[in-house]
Amino acid sequence: MNDINWDALRQAANAAMAKAYVPYSKFPVGVAALTTSGQIISGCNVENASYGLTLCAECSLVSAATMAEAGKLVAFTCVDGSGNILMPCGRCRQLLFEHAAPGMVLETVSGFKTIQEVLPDAFGPSDLETR
Ligand code: THU
Repeated sequence: MNDINWDALRQAANAAMAKAYVPYSKFPVGVAALTTSGQIISGCNVENASYGLTLCAECSLVSAATMAEAGKLVAFTCVDGSGNILMPCGRCRQLLFEHAAPGMVLETVSGFKTIQEVLPDAFGPSDLETR
């Protein structure tokens, strides 16, 4: 975890946050992750007039990482419109879990935590294989 450039990740998350499309909530969110390929992938929230169709910033990141063939997520940060650290919503923790490298670390409002800590006993791909 010490070799992760958290400043660079926060910077990428803030740059992404500035691109958010949030005419309804006016609550921009930016996220960034270091991936196993060594790339920094970012994302922002994209809202919709049909409010429930809003794409969280994490959706944008996971899609971008997939398209970039960037591998799994190693380290992740999420910021609000003021650049303060924001916790990913519950749905997005599940999204991140699916694409997490083992031991993925998140910068959270209460310090650095692993994906397992922010989504304990997670349902995931292995559950589909074992039952
Ligand atoms: N939002 C995200 O983009 N990610 C989260 O983890 C929390 C919530 C967005 C969705 C919506 O556009 C706005 O924040 C307010 O809920």
